Amino acid sequence: MSLLRAAASALLAASSVAATGVLLPLYVYPSAEYNDGAANWKPVVDAAAATSNVPWLVVVNPADGPGGTGLPGNDDVNYISGLTQLNALANVQTIGYVHTEYGTSSMDVLQSNITKWASWGSSSSDTAVQGIFFDESSTNSFEYLNTAITFTRTAFGNQQIKTVCNFGSAVKATEFYTICDVVIVFESALNDPNYPVYESTTTIAANTPGAGYHDQAAVIVHDYVGTSADGRTADTTLLHTYIQEARDADLGWLYFCSGGYNSVTTGPATVGALAAAF
Ligand SMILES: *[C@@H]1O[C@H](CO)[C@@H](O)[C@H](O)[C@H]1NC(C)=O
Repeated sequence: MSLLRAAASALLAASSVAATGVLLPLYVYPSAEYNDGAANWKPVVDAAAATSNVPWLVVVNPADGPGGTGLPGNDDVNYISGLTQLNALANVQTIGYVHTEYGTSSMDVLQSNITKWASWGSSSSDTAVQGIFFDESSTNSFEYLNTAITFTRTAFGNQQIKTVCNFGSAVKATEFYTICDVVIVFESALNDPNYPVYESTTTIAANTPGAGYHDQAAVIVHDYVGTSADGRTADTTLLHTYIQEARDADLGWLYFCSGGYNSVTTGPATVGALAAAF
């Protein structure tokens, strides 16, 4: 290959390879015992460290928000230890949790929480979060979200933060992709007849405006247990298949877990198995 062609193809690779990352709602309390160095988060730290070429967004949530104190980690040594370990990894961004109650949360309360999250980094970068997770986002509340996200970017000094909007279901309107860096378009069990089931690239295509939006989209499959809707066993082999298909579809972000958001060690989709499947 000529030098020019080599340079051109390297450039192409850099611009066209959108690495699929992990978007983990880490609602697990960091410690099993007080001041144990965030033992409960160790499987996450290990999994992220083992996949240094995979970007991770880790949503932290001490109290349905940043907590009342406004201090880093809500002034909890266990949170401070866990955050410090996650933030030490170059491929991890920690993200602070707020909820919008489908566009009905008081904007003053929401903004006050965002200001608290932004302030966690003012005393030490170890405890900084690098974005905000807007849970319970609604596709009926564009102006509300737009106001909140504009406020967020200013509160964080317009750094390279990530705004993550959890709609939990299809987002076909392209305007949301102009304000949310990450758009969660599926949040459901693998295969519960009462809820939407996960069908890999069929779900990704159906729930986004088109292939050009896949790299901003995210899917979250909780209760990865039993069998899939098309009758395959939910094991680590199928997990690997789903991750490969998502990467081939240029999906931005994904998360699979077997024990809901309060366990990272329940199999088959433990956080370690998820990392190994990459
Ligand atoms: C704001 O944060 C507080 C404390 O964590 C939480 O109780 C409240 O529900 C949050 N409200 C919103 C709208 O995020």
